[in-house]
Amino acid sequence: MIKSEWKEKGYIDEPIPAEIDLKKEIRRLCAEKNAVIMGHYYTRNEIQDVADFVGDSLALAQQAAKTTADIIVMCGVHFMAETNKILCPDKKVLLPDLNAGCSLADSCPADELAKFKEEHPGYKVLAYVNTSAAVKAHTDIVVTSSNAREIVDSLPADEKIIFAPDKNLGGYLNAVTGRNMLLWNGGCHVHEQFSVEKIVGLKAANPGAKVLAHPECKNSVLALADYVGSTAAILSFAQKDECNTFIVATESGILHEMQKRCPEKNFIPVPPMSGSCACNECAYMRLNTLEKLYNCLKYEWPFVELDEQLRERAKLPIERMLEISAKIKK
Ligand code: 13P
Ligand code: SF4
Repeated sequence: MIKSEWKEKGYIDEPIPAEIDLKKEIRRLCAEKNAVIMGHYYTRNEIQDVADFVGDSLALAQQAAKTTADIIVMCGVHFMAETNKILCPDKKVLLPDLNAGCSLADSCPADELAKFKEEHPGYKVLAYVNTSAAVKAHTDIVVTSSNAREIVDSLPADEKIIFAPDKNLGGYLNAVTGRNMLLWNGGCHVHEQFSVEKIVGLKAANPGAKVLAHPECKNSVLALADYVGSTAAILSFAQKDECNTFIVATESGILHEMQKRCPEKNFIPVPPMSGSCACNECAYMRLNTLEKLYNCLKYEWPFVELDEQLRERAKLPIERMLEISAKIKK
């Protein structure tokens, strides 16, 4: 049923009749198939608008763990769909475009992490959720940017820890927790691009504006931030804070939800270092389009598959994270 060129492309590009109301048809297919659409804050506005649930990496994993849907469509990137499949093996997990990867996850190949672990006996491995299932299988506890600090704090003070793969998040965590975790040298191509000079310029042009930054940004950017947090934390800070103008150093897709929650406030995305490129947009997240979402729901392809043994091994560190997160919340 799947044409070979679709398989090669990793998505279905079957032409869609112009008269079709895509959003309406997507919702109809969801109802017919008991499917749920999950979207990350970094996806296109129109995807966020049609999704059942929009959230950060932690919320998306928590939502997957409790969904009663038969099909989960993950409008995000591959590791997010994999996380859903790890938690929900009996459900079909669709990803509208299998090419939606993540430069940060790619910066940590599983065999290299396994070797590093062998070279450092006695160390616990904490891995950011932005990793492949194969890396999670070598991990003791998964963390997201929403819970990383609390999870590090929950470990004994003398625990020896390897933190992978994001060196910026790891460095930030070392600074705020006083730990000395060994850091993997990985990074996200979007968050590493933000320009310090442009933030300084924006601050000068917008006196009183507050800078909000994701901890995947470089230390020099975090040093200029009034608030550092995950996408969900940044959103809630912007909502609660009395300030009216915010300079936002994370993927610019988040501005859609910010503007929705705070229509009266002003959000300015930080541009990347090089002039005209759209490097503050994650090209992988943007691979999710309404057309691909419609086709993948219609044909129930592409879906994510995992070897069962690998899935079992990758599930443990995610479950530990969910357990610790639930305790922290109480
Ligand atoms: P959070 O959703 O945990 O803030 O992570 C951001 C990110 O890089 C997702 O790819
Ligand atoms: Fe990965 Fe960066 Fe894109 Fe997030 S923004 S999915 S970390 S490449």
